[in-house]
Amino acid sequence: MAHSTRTASLTIDGKTYELPIYSPTAGPDVIDITKLYAQAGVFTHDPGFTSTSACDSAITFIDGDKGELMHRGYPIDQLAEKSHYLEVCYLLLYGELPSAAELETFETTITRHTMIHEQMHNFFRGFRRDAHPMATMVGVVGAMSAFYHDSTDITDERQREIASHRLIAKMPTIAAMAYKYSIGQPFVYPRNDLDYASNFLRMCFAVPAEEYVVDPILARAMDRIFTLHADHEQNASTSTVRLASSSGANPFACIAAGIACLWGPAHGGANQACLEMLKEIGHPDRIPEFIARAKDKNDPFRLMGFGHRVYKNFDPRATVMKKSADEVLDLLGVENNPLLQIAKELERIAVNDDYFIEKKLFPNVDFYSGIILEAMGFPTSMFTPIFAVSRTVGWISQWKEQLADPAMKIGRPRQLYMGATARDYVEIENR
Ligand code: CMC
Repeated sequence: MAHSTRTASLTIDGKTYELPIYSPTAGPDVIDITKLYAQAGVFTHDPGFTSTSACDSAITFIDGDKGELMHRGYPIDQLAEKSHYLEVCYLLLYGELPSAAELETFETTITRHTMIHEQMHNFFRGFRRDAHPMATMVGVVGAMSAFYHDSTDITDERQREIASHRLIAKMPTIAAMAYKYSIGQPFVYPRNDLDYASNFLRMCFAVPAEEYVVDPILARAMDRIFTLHADHEQNASTSTVRLASSSGANPFACIAAGIACLWGPAHGGANQACLEMLKEIGHPDRIPEFIARAKDKNDPFRLMGFGHRVYKNFDPRATVMKKSADEVLDLLGVENNPLLQIAKELERIAVNDDYFIEKKLFPNVDFYSGIILEAMGFPTSMFTPIFAVSRTVGWISQWKEQLADPAMKIGRPRQLYMGATARDYVEIENR
């Protein structure tokens, strides 16, 4: 916890309470209200946690006004350009960039944990073929706690580490299997001679009947998508993982909770929703109609892939993603992809529109990712599972950090109760 040198005064009914103010290494100061209820008998009220910090963290920092994202101090654009996903995983988990030897050991460890227990295949077969792969992932990842008993004791640091490695390593295998099952193709086992991204592409797109050669440019694009989604400080799914973990739940149960939260269209489900929206728009001529709908207070429609709780400027991940979309579509010979044309025109119109300017709504990471993923051959239903694969390391790093924090307590928000006050039960015949 940061050291407090200043206090904020809060006066309630003439009585003043001094609340410590902490200064972080970056970002706004925070006022510590943990003793407020004990001292003053009042709660604070902040639905959606718009002004509330829930933990100390040293992993990721976002400056939403400047549109900056850093992992352990390193800007995301540098990591996306110069690093690669497993190195970023190491950085998030352990706090520093690895030496060459540390990276080699880490990559070997992750590679050698990619297979899942053979009996877990039965879980997949229990799902309907038309199940959304996110539904399958929530179930199968939760079920890992029934298979890996030697890494569920959260009080044992070594077990925590093994669980972390297993989750990062097995998540692509599970996502690929969920996909293969949904299209009725045989599962493809991981291969240890391939890097993380190439292995994932092969598990998704290879069939036993022929050799599958991974295109290095597509592998690089896949790796960049993983890197750009790796962590994003205390977002909804990460906070869900932390809240689940605060009760002492095992790591597989906590990550399954994170996957469930990520699924929603306001969070990780936005990439699928965005591509579906671009398809529905269908032609640049129809963009004004959709912009008008997004601005209409009486219409629930929102521009998917636009806006963010924290970014009030360009999402730096979207800038890299847009460049990547150009490269991938160029490689695949679809540089005139109609959806990319619609997306670019939609972005141009929206960022010059008073409504979006005034509300500081800019494209977020999900605006361009779906276009790349579709061009690579993924169906829209796989977009959010791919986000889940990428974000696993963020969830795990935050979970690990939380468990090592001596200040950790069970998460238990209070409420502003507005319901009925005490009243007597009325027998059914008298109602
Ligand atoms: N289209 C139209 N209007 C919007 C949009 C949008 N995409 N996003 C926000 N607004 C408006 C909203 O109607 C509100 O207007 P008013 O003040 O007049 O009521 C104002 O902007 C503030 O919106 P909010 O809902 O209070 O903001 P929030 O911080 O609670 O929500 C958000 C953030 C990401 C959920 C929201 O911007 C949204 O629904 N965007 C579309 C979904 C999306 O792209 N999500 C992916 C987020 S990035 C990836 C991830 O982290 O998962």
